[in-house]
Amino acid sequence: MRKYTQNDTPLFDALKNYVDENVWAFHVPGHKHGKGIEEFTDYVGKAVMEIDVNSMEDLDNLANPIGVIKDAHELAAKAFGADYAYFLINGTTSGIQAMIMAATEPGDKIIMPRNAHKSAFSALILAGVIPVYVYPDINEEFDIAMGITAEQVEEAIKLNPDAKAVLVLNPTYYGITSELKRIIELAHLNNMAVLCDEAHGSHFYFHPDLPPGGIQLGADIAALSIHKTGGSLTQSSLLISKGKRVDPLIIKSILSLTQSTSASYLLMASLDLARKQLATRGKEMLNKIIEITGYAKEEINGHNGLAALNKDDINKPSSLDPTKLVVNVSKTGMTGYEVMRLLRTEFHVQLEMADLSNIMAIISFGDDSESVKFLVNSLKKLTLNRRRGEELITGRILRPEVIVAPRDAYYGKNKSVLLEESAGEISAEMIMVYPPGIPMLCPGERITKDIIEKVKLLKKQHCQLQGMEDPNMEHIKVLGHNV
Ligand SMILES: Cc1ncc(COP(=O)(O)O)c(C=O)c1O
Repeated sequence: MRKYTQNDTPLFDALKNYVDENVWAFHVPGHKHGKGIEEFTDYVGKAVMEIDVNSMEDLDNLANPIGVIKDAHELAAKAFGADYAYFLINGTTSGIQAMIMAATEPGDKIIMPRNAHKSAFSALILAGVIPVYVYPDINEEFDIAMGITAEQVEEAIKLNPDAKAVLVLNPTYYGITSELKRIIELAHLNNMAVLCDEAHGSHFYFHPDLPPGGIQLGADIAALSIHKTGGSLTQSSLLISKGKRVDPLIIKSILSLTQSTSASYLLMASLDLARKQLATRGKEMLNKIIEITGYAKEEINGHNGLAALNKDDINKPSSLDPTKLVVNVSKTGMTGYEVMRLLRTEFHVQLEMADLSNIMAIISFGDDSESVKFLVNSLKKLTLNRRRGEELITGRILRPEVIVAPRDAYYGKNKSVLLEESAGEISAEMIMVYPPGIPMLCPGERITKDIIEKVKLLKKQHCQLQGMEDPNMEHIKVLGHNV
């Protein structure tokens, strides 16, 4: 095999060779290099359609890579300091499901933060795994959950020495990290695997001023949304693993259970390129992002009642990704949702996310000082003449009682009732705002008046609520039979 360096892109090169060969395509996709869907091809460009092809000998096969995909995987593993890397074409969601399924068996326990992403809860349902929740502290000033501490995990391990794995968010959607190094030591001492949800942490591996990546600290597996902060196309992610605590052959086998048999070469080629860019220019590119985000925070802080989240605001031992721009807007008299909507309608600025108290902007490789200045100035203008001083009620993070395991509740006999009248019932569904996709309620948890009130409040804010079968979020499935 050829000896590759991080400047090489074996998969992308193989695709370009295929295009250069001018092949008569008698394979799927049936659009045949874009000719079968002209209007779309004219808009997105011929080159995009020409590399939207299917597995073949020279382009390898994601289900059992032995050629250029294997080479691209090996380069990715090296770039992230892992033993193995696997391209994911169904986002980090599929990576989280695969790592939980690889590290556990049905009926096993996993220690995890209650503010995990919906993909972790869906993995519990798919895998029949029992959660042992750790409840992170809340930073009252920003109304944001912090990371989990080693002390909390130690307590959970003491009460559940039979747990098989610990899941850690590195970092949360808001860029908050946990006490990961000590958590890894504790988990390994107790024979538990450490799985990192790094949907928001793929850049961590490439700059010394950022929090370290999980694999760099000794975690066993990590799932990374390269598409969020690493530059690749939407839905392209990476699963990386180190060591033998979780068998790499099992990881590979589970991925081939759940991933599509028609992996998108557009997504995989973008991963190949993003890996090259991160490995060869990541530090330099991240220098710029850290600088422009720092500028944005300085400019925003204290302006019209706005407060940008800084490292010093974080409850120790959690820390903060300096590239995340989280701004508390509760002193403007508007909710985060209102600010986000007004930025879009009045300034054509689309943020990543909002909650009742905060807004969050992703600043990444496609940004520069001009785009960030535009965001800062728009935010200042928007908040200048608005009513302020009046603090709004905040989005207190709730802690519903767990009665039944998520899988049992999901598959249990259920009936549909009015959400308004459901207090006291046990839910068979999730409820969440997306983003961030953290369930307020999971299958198997007791519905309370607080949860119902919060859903009503969020509906009033026109939030994107998800998880219930009823698209209007008026009926909820709860355990029990219809009478
Ligand atoms: C914390 C966290 N984990 C996992 C995911 C799932 O990632 P993906 O969208 O790549 O499937 C997300 C998505 O937003 C997330 O925020």
